[in-house]
Amino acid sequence: MGILAINGGKKAVQKTPKTSEIFNSMVDEQETLVRQLLRKREISASSVVEELEKNFAQYTGTKYAIAMNNGTATLHSAFFSVIKEPGDEIITSVHTWHLGVTPIICAGGIPVFCDIEPLTLNIDPSKIEQKITSKTRAICVTHVYGHPADMDSINNIAKKYNLAVIEDASHSHGAAYKGIPTGKLGDIGCFSLQGSKLMTGGEAGILVTDHTKFYESCIMLGHYERVSKLSSKYDKYKANENIPFMNLGYKYRIHPFAAAMALIELKYLEERNSLQMKNCSYINRGLASIEGFDGAYVAPYVTKHAWLNYLIRFYPEQFDGIPREKIIEALRAEGVDAAKGRPGYIPLVRQPLLNERENSPAYAIWYHFLKNHPEYKIEDYPVAEKVLFERIAIPSLRDIEYDVEYLEQILDAFRKISKHRKELK
Ligand SMILES: Cc1ncc(COP(=O)(O)O)c(C=O)c1O
Repeated sequence: MGILAINGGKKAVQKTPKTSEIFNSMVDEQETLVRQLLRKREISASSVVEELEKNFAQYTGTKYAIAMNNGTATLHSAFFSVIKEPGDEIITSVHTWHLGVTPIICAGGIPVFCDIEPLTLNIDPSKIEQKITSKTRAICVTHVYGHPADMDSINNIAKKYNLAVIEDASHSHGAAYKGIPTGKLGDIGCFSLQGSKLMTGGEAGILVTDHTKFYESCIMLGHYERVSKLSSKYDKYKANENIPFMNLGYKYRIHPFAAAMALIELKYLEERNSLQMKNCSYINRGLASIEGFDGAYVAPYVTKHAWLNYLIRFYPEQFDGIPREKIIEALRAEGVDAAKGRPGYIPLVRQPLLNERENSPAYAIWYHFLKNHPEYKIEDYPVAEKVLFERIAIPSLRDIEYDVEYLEQILDAFRKISKHRKELK
């Protein structure tokens, strides 16, 4: 454990990890399928879309799956399905990606933020009930970074107050809570399939539900080409020789190439997640004995892991005032690609877009449409304000072969920094 690399010593991580064979096989298959679609000119509509929907519904154990052009579209569709009148409220976590929240506003609703749990970083069920009003329609849950939220507690509250539960499972493809896959745990499950996700179509999304009423309202919002297939309730909107296609103004259809990519990603999802967990679990075990650090937290109810971002904990009190930025800098010097977390993941109430008044781009909706503007105060979310700054993201160790020598080098970087932390002052 010599001199820290940041102070001129040798880097702890010398090895470059090898890309996994699983990943290489997946990409080969994706290439072949996309080429086939190109040759067949299936570039706008294709049976590959229905195949993805069928397989994903089967995988999540849900009745319906609707593939869409991105995850934001799935969330907008979900909020549109549960909001009954302007000003209805959706309770959601203060710690998620903004696109899991701003579609609430675009669907005529008001996001009501809730603080998070200190360990899982997910919405804290013990703080939900105090946020419920006569206007509350749903609780939205993000399984942030891939760790499932405490769904039994959340579903119990929803049942008591007759609220819908929307899951934003954009970080947790393949993760399971008490044996049930995320996305299947509430009433509507929304998944981004954007390029950085555990399962991707490049730019795409997919929504799952068991409820016909939600399925049909999602189709009415963004899939005019499928309105004809809806139940008789929608007969008067169905196209015939006199009436052309029409729906509610959004076109959320997925691109067939994205569907093809995602179809193959789904096939490899379990294998890739397992390999990632083997790598991450090794690091988690190693970190447990390194002073000042700890592995990613995993609640006992998690029966299958999937980490979109692998966030480890550090204990500021053991670093005696050394800022997180300095530790990240030291890790990077050692060859560990460390970062603060997912870019942009600050408590959402800090976002000017949600707090500005007259000059906000959301002005037209807040004032003209809703005649309202909620008050958000940073001090109402003390847990998020503290714990989000006590995490460090390190590479998610996905799609690399299991290599103990490489994993040990990562751990050596932490061991070195822990041992020589006074030298970072
Ligand atoms: C939690 C969460 N929700 C929603 C989205 C939006 O998905 P998309 O970028 O596919 O529209 C993302 C994307 O990063 C996300 O991380």
